Amino acid sequence: MQLKSLLSEAIRDSFKELNITPKTTQVNEAAKPEFGDFQYNGVMALAKELKENPREIANRVALVLKENPLFERVEVAGPGFINLRIDKKFLEDNLLQALDSRAGVREKEDKIRVVVDYSSPNMAKQMHVGHLRSTVIGDALANLFEFLGDEVIRQNHIGDWGTQFGMLIAYFEENAKERAKELSDLERFYQAAKKRFDEDEEFATKAREYVVKLQSGDKECLRLWREFIDTTLAHTQEIYDKLGVKLGLDDVRGESFYNSDLPNLVEELEQKGVAKESEGAKCIFFEDKAPLIIQKKDGGYLYATTDLAAIKYRVQELKAKRISYVVDARQSEHFKQVFETAKRAKIVDDSIILEHIAFGMVLDKSGKPFKTREGGTIKLKDLIDEAVRRAREIIGKDRDYSDEELEHIAKVVGVGALKYADLSINRLSNYVFDWDKMLSLDGNTALYMQYAYARINSILRKAPEIESKKVIIGDELEKKLALKILSFEDILNRAYIEAMPHLITNYLYELAGLFMKFYENNPILKEGVKSEIRDSRLLLAKATANVIKKGLNILGIEVVERI
Ligand code: ARG
Repeated sequence: MQLKSLLSEAIRDSFKELNITPKTTQVNEAAKPEFGDFQYNGVMALAKELKENPREIANRVALVLKENPLFERVEVAGPGFINLRIDKKFLEDNLLQALDSRAGVREKEDKIRVVVDYSSPNMAKQMHVGHLRSTVIGDALANLFEFLGDEVIRQNHIGDWGTQFGMLIAYFEENAKERAKELSDLERFYQAAKKRFDEDEEFATKAREYVVKLQSGDKECLRLWREFIDTTLAHTQEIYDKLGVKLGLDDVRGESFYNSDLPNLVEELEQKGVAKESEGAKCIFFEDKAPLIIQKKDGGYLYATTDLAAIKYRVQELKAKRISYVVDARQSEHFKQVFETAKRAKIVDDSIILEHIAFGMVLDKSGKPFKTREGGTIKLKDLIDEAVRRAREIIGKDRDYSDEELEHIAKVVGVGALKYADLSINRLSNYVFDWDKMLSLDGNTALYMQYAYARINSILRKAPEIESKKVIIGDELEKKLALKILSFEDILNRAYIEAMPHLITNYLYELAGLFMKFYENNPILKEGVKSEIRDSRLLLAKATANVIKKGLNILGIEVVERI
């Protein structure tokens, strides 16, 4: 349920009765418990505009609000704040919703089709930690959009076209036997090819020839290139599968896909007067940004040209209403230029949302870009394996799981920790990669959440069958917990609008914390607890577990029932 919308509606209705149109009906969580559960503070600005006494307006609104059974108490405080306390009965009547398969969350009314462009590595280089961020954040957001009812089309805009591929396929051809193996380390493959290119004139000539042949559509060259890309993609897919992200080979629409559209696109932009010739190149000029080149003097096309063609395809063929690019913040200028060009050329109209969902860099603990000790790119496969290895060590200590069980838990916990650590900070900040913090039990970590979830499950396993399906809110701790559980939809909607996964992890962490406090003070299975009370508390526990699981799943993180 959308608790906050419900509150806003109540505010709107009471203003209506007074024949006043409020500027905002937004309600916020109360900053202190003595202020109640929520606070409305829109009266002050309104009173100023109407040149009336804010306290007086607040009193009149409060009088109407008091009639609403949603509230236990409505109080006016300070210059005109309205403090709201939700009625226990309301929570008792609605909490069971959180037990259903959607944890009580409804789909949005305005469902749209969204393209999420994420991961998108370059096939000429090792996939690096920046792509890990894009993959993890992009997948979480795609899941969230989907969960709230949007139709999501995942697009992996891989870099699979350009002059480097002449050199790469020439080297690929030379090493026919070892191809597949060599390509598991793309960085090394690239360096070896480059070395050949620099040292052997004959090889270099062939590589240059291959570029020309490739671009003119030579069959044999294209076949080699296709094989190179497919082999590389197979390695990339291994990483996606290890990470449990939902990208598959069907989602790949690489740069090459748009190749044949580029000449027409440039012509269209010229005809529309959007692109102009300048020193032989075709450019788009802006007042407040650097010019954007879409065709070089030698006829070559660029990254931006392909991106414009991709927008056209996504709007016209895929019929997307929102296109979200989960890409490194350092590309923000590029996206500004491309988006503005698409608008000027009327490839998109105002009804279409183009958004760059930017994220910061991955740094090591000393604040430098995260690299291997030798300064090279860290292989993602190694990184994931390391996370699982470390998780296995922590989880397996002093416990006697079967090998199979331990392997499963280590995978879920290790991969989950890798993702959670990334998702739990504001994506716009740089992300400091820190194994110890990532796999710590304290604080807002995956491990804390996994333990909280498993702990609730262990209580539920030990408990007798729940007989009375009635929630009784006994004290403030139970009330706070119930309120939190019923705020899940509010949080998901906010995370949707802002495209901010960390809002969800923050929420889950607070929820788990409230549960622990509740559980410390309100025993469930202890002797002497009346059965209706026990059942009610079990229902609260069950709802908490259900929301935690759903929330983590949306983020792309699995849970284990016991740990
Ligand atoms: N291949 C690019 C890179 O690795 C990212 C592509 C992002 N998506 C896009 N449509 N430009 O930096």
